[in-house]
Amino acid sequence: MDDELVRAWRVAERESGVVLLDGFHPLKHALRFGGEVRRVLTADRGALLALAGELAPDVVAALEALAVEVAEERLRALAPRLHPTGVVALAVRPSVAANRAVLAERPRRAPVVVLENPRNLGNVGAVIRLAAGFGATGVVTTGELDPWHPTVLRGSAGLHFATAVERVGLPELPAGPLYVLDPEGVDIRDLPFPDDALLAFGTERHGVSAELKARADRLVAVPMQPGVSSFNLATSVAMGLFHWMSGRR
Ligand SMILES: C[S@@+](CC[C@H](N)C(=O)[O-])C[C@H]1O[C@@H](n2cnc3c(N)ncnc32)[C@H](O)[C@@H]1O
Repeated sequence: MDDELVRAWRVAERESGVVLLDGFHPLKHALRFGGEVRRVLTADRGALLALAGELAPDVVAALEALAVEVAEERLRALAPRLHPTGVVALAVRPSVAANRAVLAERPRRAPVVVLENPRNLGNVGAVIRLAAGFGATGVVTTGELDPWHPTVLRGSAGLHFATAVERVGLPELPAGPLYVLDPEGVDIRDLPFPDDALLAFGTERHGVSAELKARADRLVAVPMQPGVSSFNLATSVAMGLFHWMSGRR
């Protein structure tokens, strides 16, 4: 029985657009925000349903229909860094076309976060979680990193399903005034962010590229004490989104 489940899982995980959800919270958010969850395997079905009953009663019915129990060592073969909640799932990410349509929608009622060539999977997950929390339109990344990587999904607690997340080339950024966050910019306190802004942030090690700076409508800085060179990427996104939110009621 377990062998059959594992084989079916291996087939399903190769299907187009399928992503791994590692742990209870990514699964909960995928279900809550309308993600298509295809398979759920758990080492302890009773414990999973009890956890959902306690933390997320809105997803209990879906989990009752989907969750199947397998031996823990089988789960560990499918997800080597098995989350302490002992559950893994496969879901289908929204299509690139659907996300691009959301990102291109005008008028835009909330900013799009742009991460230029980010390197750290945990940072990107944290940014997606922030974007979902603040109700941003989406997060676009440039460069090689896959923003739907399982580690990013784990970092975002699966909130990819609550905002549009896509990788794009720098020339294909969505339309809208481009506010580039950079320590050399003008003081953020003097400049409200409009709802249709693109809020762009540079790579962790090297900051914003000359190419992105050249495209900026405004360069904006969060002031820092002399001697401090920069804030962490995800922290900077939090401050940028909070600044946008503070300007609206
Ligand atoms: C870790 S920082 C990059 C540090 C890089 N060494 C540099 O020189 O910019 C990552 C990104 O966070 C944003 N950031 C960090 N500190 C900032 C600040 N004080 N004001 C505005 N943006 C900031 C920028 O977008 C920056 O490119």
